[in-house]
Amino acid sequence: SKGTYDHYMLKEIDEQPSVMRRISQNYLNNDGSLNVEQDLLDEMKKADRLYIVAAGTSYHAGLVGKNIFERVADIPVDVELGSEFGYHMPKLSKHPFFIFLSQSGETADSRQVLVKVNKMNLPSLTMTNVANSTLSREATYTMELLAGPEIAVASTKAYTAQIAVEAVLAKALGEAKGLQSGKDFNVKEQLALAANGIQTIVDEKSKIKDLTADYLTDQKDAFYIGRGIDYALALEAALKLKEISYIHAEGFAAGELKHGTIALIEKNTPVLAYVNDGVGASHTRGNIQEVEARGAHVLVIASQKYAEPTDQIIIPEIDELISPIISVVPAQLIAYYASLARGNDVDKPRNLAKSVTVE
Ligand code: F6R
Repeated sequence: SKGTYDHYMLKEIDEQPSVMRRISQNYLNNDGSLNVEQDLLDEMKKADRLYIVAAGTSYHAGLVGKNIFERVADIPVDVELGSEFGYHMPKLSKHPFFIFLSQSGETADSRQVLVKVNKMNLPSLTMTNVANSTLSREATYTMELLAGPEIAVASTKAYTAQIAVEAVLAKALGEAKGLQSGKDFNVKEQLALAANGIQTIVDEKSKIKDLTADYLTDQKDAFYIGRGIDYALALEAALKLKEISYIHAEGFAAGELKHGTIALIEKNTPVLAYVNDGVGASHTRGNIQEVEARGAHVLVIASQKYAEPTDQIIIPEIDELISPIISVVPAQLIAYYASLARGNDVDKPRNLAKSVTVE
């Protein structure tokens, strides 16, 4: 039930710290070992490439996961939309391993890829919130997201849970491969930082509500920008805003602005800029100045490490690789308050279903 909440979405946003702790408790043993199936790790060790297949928000969690697997487990990763990949399958690597990311475990676009993968006798893992779902039953292995039922159509805690479980698996694989990068990635500590960091952000709700009113009232368009990990995040942030506030929102790679999209910037256009990615931070600051010079109303969401005194939202300390777990939360709240202010049905936005069982 919603308990004291007006909407499931806000309840599910608030649950994210406890979801992080649940994932930590279930997957990380006290002796430092990880509770991940040995057979799964043995199979993944044989792989020369991971193919992450998903849709929507789960696809965006896959984009974040790519960075984690590549750095922690030293394996190349392709992230694919089921609705594209299934019908236009690229030339696969010699030893592919498939990961299906799906909150519901029922998404038909992802399932038709799994059917093909099974016909080819290739190994697969489904990461899902629903243990007995179709994708879970049909894949070789399953890892549960442990986010608890997600009722609001707009996915929130499943996204952060997917990144956390990807981090657990990357750590387990990195260690199974005997890699220093696997040893060095302290996933237990990071999930604790994630839980605390999310809590800090959800405790700033009233400030974020005010910022939403300031930046998005009467706006028709809004742009999220970022580089690297923040670009993947910008796509999810924009999707959240679109689907429940109906504001036209886009996530842009900050460096691409000058290649066309900066033409959209007018006086007062909201630009929400992410600065968590260390490599990209100074360049993104440059992009912020460029859009400000053209009149944009810029809101900066920056990690503590790269923050400047005028930034509006500060993301507490966490490994950059999994920083979207915290930094998505302001975007979830901005979408929520923008939807609320417009009088929309927050939990059941128009034209959308919670699980999409048609191709
Ligand atoms: C966005 C949203 C959708 C789903 C997508 C995949 O908030 O809910 O984009 O993420 O339909 O659904 P699952 O993860 O169930 O496969």
